[in-house]
Amino acid sequence: MAALLYLFLYYFLCFLSSSKAQMPGFISLDCGGTDEYTDEIGLEWIPDNHIMYGLTGNISIPGETRKQYMKVRYFPADTNKYCYTFNVKTRTRYLVRATFLYGNFDKSNVFPKFDLSLGASYWSTIVISDAANIEVQEIVLLTSSPTISVCLSNASTGQPFISTLELRQFNGSLYYTIYETQFFLKLSARINFGAGSTDSVRYPDDPFDRIWESDAKRRANYLVDVAPGTKILSTRMPIDVSTDEMPPEKVMQTAVVGENGSLTYRLDLDGFPGNAWAFSYFAEIEELSPNETRKFKLVVPGMPAYSKAIVNVQENAQGKYRLYEPGYINVSLPFVFSFGFKKTNDSSRGPILNAMEIYKYQPINYGSPDAIVMASFVSHYPLANWAQEGGDPCLPASWSWVQCSSDSQPRITSIFLSEKNITGNIPTELTKLVELVEIRLDGNSLTGQIPDFSGCLNLIKIHLENNELTGSLPSYLANLPSLKELYVQNNHLTGELPKELLNKNIIFDYSGNEDLHKETNSLNHIIIIVFSVLGFGLLLLTVMICCLFVRNTKKDQAEANITNLQPAQKLGSFFSEVSAESVHRYQLSEIEDATGKFAKRIGAGGFGIVYYGRLSDGKEIAVKVLTNDSYQGIREFLNEVTLLSRIHHRNLVSFLGYSQQDGKNIIVYEFMHNGTLKEHLRGPLTRERTLNWINRLEIAEDAAKGIEYLHTGCSPTIIHRDLKSSNILLDKNMRAKVSDFGLSKPAVDGSHVSSIVRGTVGYLDPEYYISQQLTEKSDVYSFGIILLELISGQEPISSESFGLNCRNIVSWAKSYIESGNIEDIIDPSLQGDYNMQSVWKIAEVSFMCVKPHGSQRPSMTEVLKEIQAAIEIERASSGLGGGRTASKNSADHSANTIAMELATPEQNVSFPEFFLQPGLR
Ligand SMILES: *[C@@H]1O[C@H](CO)[C@@H](O)[C@H](O)[C@H]1NC(C)=O
Ligand SMILES: *[C@@H]1O[C@H](CO)[C@@H](O)[C@H](O)[C@H]1NC(C)=O
Ligand SMILES: *[C@@H]1O[C@H](CO)[C@@H](O)[C@H](O)[C@H]1NC(C)=O
Ligand SMILES: *[C@@H]1O[C@H](CO)[C@@H](O)[C@H](O)[C@H]1NC(C)=O
Ligand SMILES: *[C@@H]1O[C@H](CO)[C@@H](O)[C@H](O)[C@H]1NC(C)=O
Ligand SMILES: *[C@@H]1O[C@H](CO)[C@@H](O)[C@H](O)[C@H]1NC(C)=O
Ligand SMILES: *[C@@H]1O[C@H](CO)[C@@H](O)[C@H](O)[C@H]1NC(C)=O
Repeated sequence: MAALLYLFLYYFLCFLSSSKAQMPGFISLDCGGTDEYTDEIGLEWIPDNHIMYGLTGNISIPGETRKQYMKVRYFPADTNKYCYTFNVKTRTRYLVRATFLYGNFDKSNVFPKFDLSLGASYWSTIVISDAANIEVQEIVLLTSSPTISVCLSNASTGQPFISTLELRQFNGSLYYTIYETQFFLKLSARINFGAGSTDSVRYPDDPFDRIWESDAKRRANYLVDVAPGTKILSTRMPIDVSTDEMPPEKVMQTAVVGENGSLTYRLDLDGFPGNAWAFSYFAEIEELSPNETRKFKLVVPGMPAYSKAIVNVQENAQGKYRLYEPGYINVSLPFVFSFGFKKTNDSSRGPILNAMEIYKYQPINYGSPDAIVMASFVSHYPLANWAQEGGDPCLPASWSWVQCSSDSQPRITSIFLSEKNITGNIPTELTKLVELVEIRLDGNSLTGQIPDFSGCLNLIKIHLENNELTGSLPSYLANLPSLKELYVQNNHLTGELPKELLNKNIIFDYSGNEDLHKETNSLNHIIIIVFSVLGFGLLLLTVMICCLFVRNTKKDQAEANITNLQPAQKLGSFFSEVSAESVHRYQLSEIEDATGKFAKRIGAGGFGIVYYGRLSDGKEIAVKVLTNDSYQGIREFLNEVTLLSRIHHRNLVSFLGYSQQDGKNIIVYEFMHNGTLKEHLRGPLTRERTLNWINRLEIAEDAAKGIEYLHTGCSPTIIHRDLKSSNILLDKNMRAKVSDFGLSKPAVDGSHVSSIVRGTVGYLDPEYYISQQLTEKSDVYSFGIILLELISGQEPISSESFGLNCRNIVSWAKSYIESGNIEDIIDPSLQGDYNMQSVWKIAEVSFMCVKPHGSQRPSMTEVLKEIQAAIEIERASSGLGGGRTASKNSADHSANTIAMELATPEQNVSFPEFFLQPGLR
């Protein structure tokens, strides 16, 4: 059996790196092949014949002309594992793809079934059910060491084989997940919708060579139950795909739309039920007229919670022909997955879908805790066959010369390296295998001393015979509690045989060591002589020296222990490090250069101070340096940053990246040229340029859209918790964006009421303050305060303006609104230039927003509708173009009647202008 195994183990170094690849980070291995060649799409294939043992088989499948599918490599159906090892860049995300085309290579027509693993982690069970069908397995993982291994093992039928192995290195943020140190992503579905033909899209259309399957390529139970009215759309326009997972442009240029209002699909998800990373890719690729909208919801039968978020592709992507990628970072999915998209009632067009990806989270097994020590051990023998088996020493099957315990984190219990022609000292790595029970190193040419195995307390059998070991027999051997057999015969050991060892009830063979002799009494004699001749003083000295010596050895041992621990410590800190490459990471020096060492302070928020900056490419940025203690740790910060980077909306301040260095947590946002709404209402900017009423309405609409998106477009819902006029920022075109969302940590500065309840005095929902139950309606309350500020220009809290009894804007405004007199609260700087009914609409909606109970307040969607109605009234009364006209302050009318008159259908021609504006950025 062993002999047979070694026939197969006759192979060479199996380390590969990507130096030959056409794309940096591409490795395309033709398993069983013998030549290097470039295929028709430009991928450079290399054969595995120099790096892998095993046999090769020829196959021929009618219609399959690709050279990499003419050959396979196969392995014996035994209990061993067969591993390919690749050099990779550590802490980098890779796609690893393995393909299998059986083609009856062994002429046995026995369809093989075996396991595929990545290092110690189970990846998949390959079950061949059709000789002519290519089985494809793909994963995305973050590398944690400089090599990865792909192993075949556990053949239950037929012989394990493989056709190709492909590695594609990702860059930037692709497929970052917060779970990536514990789970890798196993591909279940990657679909290009509206493909038009059955061809897949891959390299060079996808620079990362992901394979996007056509939705026209039907399989049993895959993409069935398609809704009637599903139509294909395509465009030649360029698509901006430069964010998130960067799906290829060619995939985004096609889509399906549900002309009758729905798209539906059902597909079986291999490997599920399980937890998934599931994302959809949308881009508006149809020219819609300005009065048309495309809004829709995800519908998963039986799961109403999924239908909360509303997709409005153009708004979310901040323009046409741009990618918007919503999805679930962690969602539990069934094996039979039905889903659809359904248009909302107020949408004029049906849903669109360009592409989709679903991956299953598969746990990473970091394997045996002894793996690092063993990797170091085998690295001493680069030319020995037994040292090349690759992968984890224990999982999924152990190396041929190793036995492991059966724990989930197995330890090495036995080493069988008899007669392997090993030279040199016994490497000290072996002494770190603390669960060792048996070690056989006999029959080699080992030299040097017997190392210190005193930490291996479970050792039962030690075979060191027939080597060239020198030095004395260490005394610790007598103290190994479980030792039963000790063989050291035929070495060059010297000195005395420890008496304890001779007295121990064990099998002990020390023959053939000529200079090894039994203990004599000479030492006792010497001590007696020393006593009598030199007397007691010297004895003291001796005792002292002995003590020193003992202490030193103790210290030595302690140091040795520390060195022993090093690999484990390294491992620990390595895994606790979180990577957030999903978002751009700036160097601190880059930020310092951009901000001129934080020279220009432009604001201070709940979480830190904001500085102005300009990057070397001229891009202006706002740099928020977080108050150090607002984050518990690196991981927490990066998790938040990662979530932030997934939130995209035209009316939310774009998040550009982060920096984390020297204890500084920094978030980089787009710079908003016109500062905060607060400054425009009350700050130094007021004097220069007063916001007129239509500007204020547009700002309210923009902000409401941003907040509505946080409430309805994100899942789970995001509650801002700290809406205020200083968190509404204005860009060059005076369009508003909401900032400071998503940071959910309790703040530490004085503007916040408590460390549990977050918010700013004056904006804080009293119901939330009392109950501490946070809902979207708390944001609605704060937004109501902002609307009151827009009307009145007043601060939310001021004993000067409102009098000592009132103090806050709500009770002050309420008394006027209730008595029908709002003119007295309208900001005098508007100089009467507004339509009274438009102001009334806002006053009424703000009044609803600040109702004491959340249940009485409207939703943000309802608030937005009211604001849009107020805009229509204002525009209608000032001419269709929306330009400024003279005052339309109509005195004695009943507000409601007039509002109704003005909102008659003929008047809905004027839509807010910025529906037409292309997205910024
Ligand atoms: C496979 O084909 C090559 C020629 O392409 C031939 O030399 C080789 O013997 C074949 N191997 C087997 C196992 O048939
Ligand atoms: C080997 O495969 C069989 C069946 O495919 C499975 O039951 C068994 O658990 C596997 N063994 C290991 C060690 O993975
Ligand atoms: C990532 O790779 C893509 C495709 O090769 C390239 O266009 C892009 O510039 C790369 N990005 C970074 C940050 O390296
Ligand atoms: C889909 O809509 C078209 C016209 O828009 C109509 O002819 C067709 O009957 C509809 N199909 C279904 C199933 O509703
Ligand atoms: C996903 O969520 C589930 C349940 O909330 C949790 O148990 C699991 O650890 C999460 N992560 C992954 C990768 O499954
Ligand atoms: C949009 O406007 C066009 C005219 O520009 C009109 O024909 C169409 O009916 C309008 N659609 C909706 C949904 O209002
Ligand atoms: C043992 O190793 C030596 C060199 O280290 C080599 O010359 C010799 O051929 C090897 N013997 C065997 C049996 O492998």
